[in-house]
Amino acid sequence: MEIQIENGKEDLIKNEKMLRLRQEMESSQSCCRLAKTRLNLVPGEGNADAKVLFIGEGPGRKEDEEGKPFIGSAGKLLTELLQSIGFERKDIFIANVVKCRPPSNRDPLPEEVKACWPWLQKQIEIIQPLLIIPLGRHAMERFLPDMKISAVRGKILRKNVAGLGTQVFMPTYHPAAVLYHREWLKFLQEDFAKIPKILEHLEANRAEEKTNGTTIEWDSMEIGNNKEKKQEKMF
Ligand code: URA
Repeated sequence: MEIQIENGKEDLIKNEKMLRLRQEMESSQSCCRLAKTRLNLVPGEGNADAKVLFIGEGPGRKEDEEGKPFIGSAGKLLTELLQSIGFERKDIFIANVVKCRPPSNRDPLPEEVKACWPWLQKQIEIIQPLLIIPLGRHAMERFLPDMKISAVRGKILRKNVAGLGTQVFMPTYHPAAVLYHREWLKFLQEDFAKIPKILEHLEANRAEEKTNGTTIEWDSMEIGNNKEKKQEKMF
């Protein structure tokens, strides 16, 4: 029998599940060697019932010290970009591909990303986001290997991910990279500006699927300026 959840209860259930998952992560010290060198676990934070999930690479020094994602200068830029589209951090969920800081902020190794994957997978299963936004190359590669971030940023890509089913992605640049390459800021702003429209479309799609079992064609979606009327369906 299908369990009916009253409106408003679903977010409580998801937040409860996320809390339990966090406790599981905290007590698991053996996932990979990063757990031994971290100061704090950085599991991710935000609304477990969010429509949009941002995924970064891994915690930096400040995040490691405080156990919270994106609280340094890249986080400040992320918060500003969210505010520019009328979102607050509590409206979204922010996670990382690895939950513990790689020493000296080096890139996470493939085996560390692999070891941490079950946690991210469970977070996605709980949240069931309409849209996943990988921030930067490392986060993108976990889902969309062999793609170039400069080529696919701002594009809406549907992909069947093993263990997760079909997910919708819009990769964009990592805010930390944009702090080094200020000339990319306009691209990041452009990509963020599309988010509300994309979510509107995806929400309508989910509702349509629930009622009629059909989906609204991607080509019916208009995002941004005229140049971008046609969306690419790459998968
Ligand atoms: N960069 C990331 O990728 N994640 C954080 O949490 C902070 C900086």
